[in-house]
Amino acid sequence: MNKNKIIVPLSNNSYEVTIKQGIINNIGEELKRIGVKNNRKILIVSNKEISNLFGGELLKNLKKYKYSAEIFNIKAGESYKNLASLREIYNAAFDIGLDRNALMIALGGGIVGDVTGFAAATWLRGIEYIQIPTTLLSMVDSSVGGKTAVNHPKGKNLIGAFYQPKAVFIDPETLKTLPPREFKAGMAEVIKYGVIKDKALFEYLENDKNRDKILNLENESLIKIINNSIKTKAHIVSEDEKENGIRAILNYGHSFGHVIENLCGYGEYLHGEAISIGMKIAGDISTEKKLWPKKHSLRQDNLIESYGLPTKTPKIKKNEVIKILMGDKKVRDGKMRFILPKKIGEVDIFNDINESQFLKYFD
Ligand code: GLY
Repeated sequence: MNKNKIIVPLSNNSYEVTIKQGIINNIGEELKRIGVKNNRKILIVSNKEISNLFGGELLKNLKKYKYSAEIFNIKAGESYKNLASLREIYNAAFDIGLDRNALMIALGGGIVGDVTGFAAATWLRGIEYIQIPTTLLSMVDSSVGGKTAVNHPKGKNLIGAFYQPKAVFIDPETLKTLPPREFKAGMAEVIKYGVIKDKALFEYLENDKNRDKILNLENESLIKIINNSIKTKAHIVSEDEKENGIRAILNYGHSFGHVIENLCGYGEYLHGEAISIGMKIAGDISTEKKLWPKKHSLRQDNLIESYGLPTKTPKIKKNEVIKILMGDKKVRDGKMRFILPKKIGEVDIFNDINESQFLKYFD
């Protein structure tokens, strides 16, 4: 098998993730290859900035392969990951007569991907969709695994569905137009895979030469880290598609990360920056519980910081922390669950952490 093609093996809806330089300009051929007939209408959902960059070529290429497609832009930013944007997509779908045979394409980062996935899951009770992620974070995490959602005013991703894409096409070339801060934030998710499952990836990321290549956006190293990350994700998702157990480990660092995003205001910290701090807290708790040695905690924190990511917890009130944590989707039967590292490349799920063990990390 081509080493840059990963299958997400699911019981009834397995799909391919293809990572290839330049693929964004050849989506028509890819659709043909995976059997999408050209009598199917296509609605591409994106935002203005991304469609200005990649939409023109995408439409041109789809036309070359005789597909009929239109682009609809939603507004960019976390505050537009909401029911209003969803309604706008439904309106566009209605206006162009998107029938059950039609296809949606999500072209953009995690917000576009999550909203489009949920629109596809619900339009006419579900039509197929394709993910074309253009940020590192969406490439290595949100475009794969079928978590689709919009936010509710009371919390992030509270309205959604597990709904797998038909295929995912990743072009590392698109990362060259990504603001460096966003690229680095995406590295937090890559580091996460190293800690939870992939010691070799962790060690690869630690190497100075590799770090230079990654931060200089060298294609070979980008393809390697994206490929390794998705392999881990595909494996975990195939074991536990709807997060009844092991899939929760993909949320390593996320509980505290969500607290930080939520209480500091979305935008103050990018998602990846917030989970970097979350991973640092989780590591410290684990060290204190004598689950992993201090030297591993330090290795993790050094790695995070070496990619320009933060590890220092902002000032946050303790009672606010509890409120947010109790609203977390990982709470089961009133018990908070935390993912803590045991080795580099191994984590576990714990529900026996008491408040005093984590509240001390907050002001
Ligand atoms: N982002 C975590 C997951 O897909 O389960």
